[in-house]
Amino acid sequence: MKILAVETSCDETSVSVLECKGGLKNPKFSILSNIVFSQVELHAPFGGVVPNLAKREHQRNLVPSLIQALEEAGLIYLKSKISNLKSQTPRVSLRGEKSRVARDEATKQSHKNGDLDLLNNYKKLQKILEREPELSEQLINFLNKYEIPKIDLIAVTQGPGLEPALWMGVNFARAMSTAFVVPLLGVNHLEGHIFSVFLKNRENLKSKISNLERTPKTRFPALALIVSGGHTELVLVNDWLKYKIIGSTLDDAAGEAFDKAARILGLGYPGGPLISREAEKLKLYTLNSSGYNLSLPRPMINSKDFNFSFSGLKTAVLYLTQDLKKSGKWSDELIPQTAHEFQNAVVDVLVSKSLKAAENHSVKSFILCGGVSANKELRERLAKDVKEKFSGKVNFFMPDLEFSGDNAAMIAAAAYPNYLNLKTKGKSPKISPIIKANGNLNF
Ligand code: KG4
Ligand code: ZN
Repeated sequence: MKILAVETSCDETSVSVLECKGGLKNPKFSILSNIVFSQVELHAPFGGVVPNLAKREHQRNLVPSLIQALEEAGLIYLKSKISNLKSQTPRVSLRGEKSRVARDEATKQSHKNGDLDLLNNYKKLQKILEREPELSEQLINFLNKYEIPKIDLIAVTQGPGLEPALWMGVNFARAMSTAFVVPLLGVNHLEGHIFSVFLKNRENLKSKISNLERTPKTRFPALALIVSGGHTELVLVNDWLKYKIIGSTLDDAAGEAFDKAARILGLGYPGGPLISREAEKLKLYTLNSSGYNLSLPRPMINSKDFNFSFSGLKTAVLYLTQDLKKSGKWSDELIPQTAHEFQNAVVDVLVSKSLKAAENHSVKSFILCGGVSANKELRERLAKDVKEKFSGKVNFFMPDLEFSGDNAAMIAAAAYPNYLNLKTKGKSPKISPIIKANGNLNF
């Protein structure tokens, strides 16, 4: 089956089409397309994501992303008989009496053309997107120009994330569900990150369609370390779709700490890759070349639970730089050292807690995922330490770099087992269901 997914939880607008086959025990995925419009440059001057700007940008980018995703997947066709519904469709910009007259006229016309169903769908679509007129107009233009794409399910990130941004994706997905008459499923973004580890990209569409990627065998229980801009969670996965959080951050998420530390060091946004780049520079210099032995705390590394805390670490970076600046000992040469020590502190805590939790719960597989899983040091250390500690008996999974950040392919992948699960219960997802975006959604 073909799943069209939409992701707008933060600052990436993403639309993807996945071909999915197999049962719950052996799902197979093939990415037909995965379009990601990053808003990083837009938010960078503000040092973080500005929710209302993100929302505006999602509104602009969703239909172009949809068109590109369908094009790459070979699923877009111009209408053979160009319908002139555009002129018949009540335009969103018309209000009051003018709008009513236009609508009545359009209805009369569509009766003649036998397009009443389509027109009714347009009206429903406009109602769903009444607060997003620009998006509504773009989607109607799409429907006027192209045939309805042949997809079997639409999936959308329901949460967690920034609510104004999430709503944009949810409303867009509901409008598509109505217009395409295709069922819609809301997906947990964190579950999406877990499924990102099974995604592989292929260059050529023919091979994408004929060779579905078999999901490597995941033995349960599995432990997932989800590290992103908003979350740091250790999740026990007893079976697909059976999740239990066994540890979380008590304050800042790991990615958030990277972003804040980068800001303190004047590196810019997003901080993760920038801190990582500075830390890598140390390999070019000799350690402690300036003679300072920088040291930062490893918060909660020895606590008995599996929780984390990164807010104090960020404050320690602030005090460290302030003290050195006050005493005139600060120089830009210390930036790579501070970044290196900060990255090591975060990685030490994440690896140590993950290994303890994996041992405590006798897990058979380990999954590293979320935006921070792009961090080279974390990837290498965790893969190596899991292998060593469990003598290669624990399977280790992490996403290809392309899928570590937010993307819609992972949302489609997570939607598939949820869809199969509903089917085994004799249920099926509905067309245009009411889905509420939930910024705090969890497992
Ligand atoms: O999962 P994600 O793309 O978005 C959320 O769901 O939050 O994660 C974004 C986070 C940001 O905080 C970013 O700084 C961090 O992932 N990140 C990294 C790296 N690349 C991205 N953190 C550390 N090292 C990296 N290389
Ligand atoms: Zn994410």
